[in-house]
Amino acid sequence: MYTPIFDSGVWLADVNEAEHGDELRLWSNILEQLLQHPSVLAKANVPDAAGGRALSSVHLADQLDLLNILKVRETRLGHWLMYQLHDAAKALGFDKTRDIRKFKFHRVWANEMSYGSEAVAHRHAADDWVIPHMVAIFYVDVPDNGADLVFLDDDSDEMRLGSLSTFAQSRQYRLKSEPGRLICHDAKQLHATTVHESRLPRRCIIIEVGFPPK
Ligand SMILES: [Fe+2]
Repeated sequence: MYTPIFDSGVWLADVNEAEHGDELRLWSNILEQLLQHPSVLAKANVPDAAGGRALSSVHLADQLDLLNILKVRETRLGHWLMYQLHDAAKALGFDKTRDIRKFKFHRVWANEMSYGSEAVAHRHAADDWVIPHMVAIFYVDVPDNGADLVFLDDDSDEMRLGSLSTFAQSRQYRLKSEPGRLICHDAKQLHATTVHESRLPRRCIIIEVGFPPK
């Protein structure tokens, strides 16, 4: 579903729990194991994280094909996700200049937020970057009081700004994170999260997508 925010919009979709619940639990187990890997635990907090520990497999994105590990190309949940990426790309208008039938996965990784952590305001691409065009976040584990995603109205070209608390409410658009929810946005769109206020972890998959010219 296309959701207008400020002068653009984002894509939001939820999987059907009855249809995909078992696959979602399998993905949850895979992410949990991946994010407990010694090479993940050995890394310091990612630059976008503040306030508490956040784990990320982003440094493994080159070596570890997470979409392959999750069997995205062979499972019903994976197919749902790929169709959604296509629909999102169209809804966000990338089809006007790009061939959205051909995904180029830039980086794919998993992220885990623990109590007290938040993601400071950041973008995934600057105006003059060639790739990525779109970012997809698929939430696998979200406990009650988990951090939500917040899009920010901002026309600067800064790649990283401060905590969400430094932005006026009128510049914020909050979307609730839920297990099985997909949110796709333009890679240049500034966003942050609220503080994760659960003792249980919040885990998601982040997919940066590029599209070749038409
Ligand atoms: Fe992000």
